[in-house]
Amino acid sequence: MNNMYFRIIPLGFMMVFISCKQETPPFDTTTYLDFAAEQVARAVEAHEDPYRLPRNIPDGKKYWELSSVSGWTSGFWPGILWYMYEYTGDQTWADRAHERNMPISQILKNDYKDHDLGFQFFCSFGNGYRLTGNTQYKDFILQAADQLAEMYHPVAGTILSWPFAIERYEAPHNTIIDNMMNLELLFWAAKNGGDPAYYDLAVTHATTTLKNQLRDDHSSWHVVAYDTITGEAVQKVTHQGFADESMWARGQAWGIYGFVMTYRETGMEKFLETAKNMASVYLDRLPDDLVPYWDFDDPEIPNAPRDASAAAITASALLELSTLLEDNSESVFYRSKAVSMLQSLSTAYRSDGTNVAVLNHSVGHLPASSEVDIPIIYADYYYLEALLRERALQGQQSTGF
Ligand code: GLY
Repeated sequence: MNNMYFRIIPLGFMMVFISCKQETPPFDTTTYLDFAAEQVARAVEAHEDPYRLPRNIPDGKKYWELSSVSGWTSGFWPGILWYMYEYTGDQTWADRAHERNMPISQILKNDYKDHDLGFQFFCSFGNGYRLTGNTQYKDFILQAADQLAEMYHPVAGTILSWPFAIERYEAPHNTIIDNMMNLELLFWAAKNGGDPAYYDLAVTHATTTLKNQLRDDHSSWHVVAYDTITGEAVQKVTHQGFADESMWARGQAWGIYGFVMTYRETGMEKFLETAKNMASVYLDRLPDDLVPYWDFDDPEIPNAPRDASAAAITASALLELSTLLEDNSESVFYRSKAVSMLQSLSTAYRSDGTNVAVLNHSVGHLPASSEVDIPIIYADYYYLEALLRERALQGQQSTGF
């Protein structure tokens, strides 16, 4: 053997090694979106009434339990159908989405309303308008924003989340961490023909939440009750978590997503820091498969149920966060965490086809023994959103954010 041979062998190995590294396939969104499309198509056939919308699948059942258009989750089902349209480009999905979406406009005539207007209108009509430009949808979104803004209290500096809970907390005003999600409706309205003051209102809500709803370790309280004379936070408690001082997984996920979105809309550094800090405590305390227990402080862990919905919401939020950062290594870090979450959800948490959901294993309200370890509609919604976001980042989808 001559020297030349020795020089060529290592070079050959290096080239094989480099080409192997370069060819590591990206996360396969197609397989999981195709599976989702099959599952959603089965559900659409079974649930034809557009006034009754999928919410959860009880243990051992195949089809969704339905809720009225006024339920807080009503916007997710049309939202899922819009995502199917976004993925496939097939007009049939847009027609189905339109049909299931329109009844939601009835909420505008209801006497009782709460902060969920954002979920109800932006996940549904918001996606519909983004994908079709239908001006009727825009009109409904702007009306919903007006009604949401009416619940803002200037002394407390936040939107009233739950009018029904005023008596319970013996305080005239309350705000839940979930409410961060509904600010997107106001940011959107402020720049799309609604009252421009909604921008300041949303910024004040986020700033007050940052001040009153986060602990020193950046975990969040679920509910804060306010005195409306002094603006003081008078109670910090939980409703759906394990304990007042625990970290309820979905609440933390709503906060991460909400502050990422608020940073996208404002460019204000304090919101970016908050999003990253909330993500940091969440990531630090996750189990190995990156799907959280329903509450990080449940003493039953490791025998407590997981919450796939929190993982899906967080994955989607971290994908967006990865697009907002200047530092490339930080951006890669958040995206790879999000993709690992999606990988985990797509394997151990995916439906086996015996029901029509996409994901199993979410928890709605464990302390009330309601919706424990079953498919819940918003888990599917944010999972599909995250798959489409990752697909867009891979350059396979022109939309997604
Ligand atoms: N805001 C409702 C929930 O996350 O359960």
